[in-house]
Amino acid sequence: MAERVFINDVGPRDGLQNQSKILAPQQRLELISALVKAGLGAVEVGSFVSPKAVPAMAGTDEIVAGLPPGNTYYSALIPNRRGYDLAVAAGVKAVGIVVASTQMMNEKNIRQSTEQAMAGCAEIIAQSKLDGIDTLAYVATAWECPFEGTVDASVVIEMTGQMLDMGATRVVVADTIGAANPAQVKSLMGALVNQFGADRLACHFHDTRGMGVADVYAAVQEGIRHFDASIGGLGGCPFAPGATGNVATEDVVVMLEQMGFDTGINLPRLVEAVDLATELTGNCDGGHSLRWVRRQIEKGVL
Ligand code: COA
Ligand code: ZN
Repeated sequence: MAERVFINDVGPRDGLQNQSKILAPQQRLELISALVKAGLGAVEVGSFVSPKAVPAMAGTDEIVAGLPPGNTYYSALIPNRRGYDLAVAAGVKAVGIVVASTQMMNEKNIRQSTEQAMAGCAEIIAQSKLDGIDTLAYVATAWECPFEGTVDASVVIEMTGQMLDMGATRVVVADTIGAANPAQVKSLMGALVNQFGADRLACHFHDTRGMGVADVYAAVQEGIRHFDASIGGLGGCPFAPGATGNVATEDVVVMLEQMGFDTGINLPRLVEAVDLATELTGNCDGGHSLRWVRRQIEKGVL
């Protein structure tokens, strides 16, 4: 049997948070439903952040209340304890907590120092254990920071170890601005897997320099089996200048399936989700593989 790789579609959060066109909660739910229909096992559905900071994510509580039932692993991003409390009150069962590797990125993103952010992360994870909530702890800007430049691997290794010790369900190593090349991914993920094992690690890549799938490949070779990706390649962080969309879910699925992995995702239905994302946002190019995938569907091969 083919080995499973798990994809978490972050389009409804990372993809939509930076769009100039703000979608209504009902439209965001339509996109989430299309992803669930395509077989995505995990979806990041929104964030509990200040609506002044990220207007596009207002109303995530309504999203959580209206999620399609089933076994999909839904998570929501939070920047602080306030976000955690709001997420739990809304009924969220898994939260993404973000701490960047550098002081400046933390200050720009969540107005906290790295020390404050790590202390907040520890407090939230401790509370999550009492509440029975999963925590996906993100190390953002894990290779390069838009403000401080190249990040030393030892910083990321140290933070990952601390987050795992705090009890994070999984640590997600994130190339927030899409600056890492596959050799750097191999080096850092290899070191992390050596030290902590692959099971509790995941990767999050952006396709800014066209290296998104190459980075996924490098991480897969190091044993990583959990990835974030975004439908149609939507995405970008409003607080990280220069970041473009995430690696496209369809590109990751095409590559992994052709390598013999099982993603559980139905490509024709995934293309329907890309079309919906395009219709809703008016700003979705689709992944590099999209035209090829469409041709295979037309030919009846997929
Ligand atoms: N959800 C909703 N509102 C929140 C909030 C949360 N998690 N945390 C704080 N707020 C509100 C406060 O109530 C306050 O509102 P007011 O101006 O109406 O009184 C306002 O945000 C500022 O609160 P404060 O405690 O001073 O926040 P801060 O300045 O220390 O932090 C953040 C600001 C972190 C809340 C804000 O910048 C934010 O939400 N950023 C989002 C980051 C993000 O999504 N990045 C992209 C993904 S990595
Ligand atoms: Zn991202």
